[in-house]
Amino acid sequence: MDKMPEDIRNYLMEAHQLAGQWSLPNNRGNHTNSKSIPLKSVSVIGGGTMGRGIAMAFSLAGFETILVELNQQAVENCRKELEITYAREKTFKRLNDSKIEKLRNTLQITTDFQKLKNCDLVSYLEEFSMKNIRIQIVEAVFEDMKLKKELFTKLDKICKSSCIFGTNTSSLDLNEMSSVLSDRTKVVGIHFFNPANLIRMVEVIYGSYTSSEAVATAFEACRAIKKLPVLVGNCPAFVFNRLLGVYLNQSQKLMYEYGYLPHQVDKIITNFGFLMGPLTVADMNGLDVMEKLKKENGWPASDFEKEVWRQKRYGRKTNKGYYKYDPKTHKKEVDMEMEQLIEKFSKQARPNIQILNDQDAVNFLLYPMFNEGLLCIEEGIIDHENLIDIMFILGFGWPILTGGPMMFGHQQGIEKVANTLILWSSLEPTNRIYKVAEKLRQIDQKHLSSKL
Ligand SMILES: NC(=O)c1ccc[n+]([C@@H]2O[C@H](COP(=O)([O-])OP(=O)(O)OC[C@H]3O[C@@H](n4cnc5c(N)ncnc54)[C@H](O)[C@@H]3O)[C@@H](O)[C@H]2O)c1
Repeated sequence: MDKMPEDIRNYLMEAHQLAGQWSLPNNRGNHTNSKSIPLKSVSVIGGGTMGRGIAMAFSLAGFETILVELNQQAVENCRKELEITYAREKTFKRLNDSKIEKLRNTLQITTDFQKLKNCDLVSYLEEFSMKNIRIQIVEAVFEDMKLKKELFTKLDKICKSSCIFGTNTSSLDLNEMSSVLSDRTKVVGIHFFNPANLIRMVEVIYGSYTSSEAVATAFEACRAIKKLPVLVGNCPAFVFNRLLGVYLNQSQKLMYEYGYLPHQVDKIITNFGFLMGPLTVADMNGLDVMEKLKKENGWPASDFEKEVWRQKRYGRKTNKGYYKYDPKTHKKEVDMEMEQLIEKFSKQARPNIQILNDQDAVNFLLYPMFNEGLLCIEEGIIDHENLIDIMFILGFGWPILTGGPMMFGHQQGIEKVANTLILWSSLEPTNRIYKVAEKLRQIDQKHLSSKL
């Protein structure tokens, strides 16, 4: 941090401050007049990639943490995966033996809800509520609206009226999700980033009904586990995943339209300064997450992407995605079958946009992210550009010197970005990714008239 240029440091400090000064629209409450409920215990439903990381974060911070899984097999799998994570974290010196022991002893993993009615855990829940200690639920089950609604219907019957329901959804409509609850003001999005035990950034999402108490509780829970929450509005994929989705779509396009191989796309972006390339990230997050996200929201998928899903190439979790992974060592390797697939698709492609060198490829990936960020602001989903930037610096390893996707767009010269995107939009008018933000259109107009 010491070597960070002063202007970037100030920019990020301002973002930190702005993040804490949240407010809901229409005087529904803000950081000065809304109180969190007291938090002692947290339940996490779903012990997959995200649920395990979230449960670890709460457990390490001293919360009573209960992780609920579908069945005994899933519990065993969850335990096994947690042990792998503990071992990896120990290697990286982020966990020591005593912390691992604490996790083994305090992070409880259990099975389905019907069984809970007669077993210790429910009396455990009741015992807590008798002492007026509230439980907060964070669900991290599959990205499936029907499933999440079924889960909330069930939880509504089990949990105390004071309980706040956090959802880790990546994209789904909070208003629809909360419709099954007797009090829908209690649902708030608490969108952790992967790996949730490590990444500091969290998007807190409010729906039309979310109370300021629920938002304050989500903020308090995040702060208690040393995360930085940023408040955003309810729209498909919210802010972070909207920009990330654009970036991942473009990185796939580099492969199936231009014939770039996964390691070449990744190299271009690590040369730019990122710690990891987009395809390594996609494999890590799970390509099934994007599949569910696109299917649930009715978003278009390319034929290449559909083929990747058909082959169950879900990334690290299936040992093959854009790369393949040794099942024992988990080491990433080039996958010749994937490279052949890319060759097959790119041979038939006739791309509209010219990419002549690595810089063009970087712009192809990052200009649409800047545009998407401007769209989010224009739609009132987030208030400030530097909140978007801090999300990508803390949540995605964006290279700090370019200050995040929004600062990068300005550094490039907003007129140049506007011209480029307007050109791309004219070449692919039906491509949603090139829907140009009003701010860029106005800048382009001004630029044109000053030349006349
Ligand atoms: N993977 C990511 O990078 C990422 C990042 C942010 C948010 N998310 C979101 O987090 C949620 C979970 O994603 P994931 O990647 O951890 O998925 P995952 O497939 O790794 O895990 C989901 C887990 O939920 C369990 N589950 C399903 N139904 C259940 C039920 N009724 N009761 C209890 N457990 C149940 C499954 O057994 C599974 O272990 C999704 O909403 C996803 O969109 C994912």
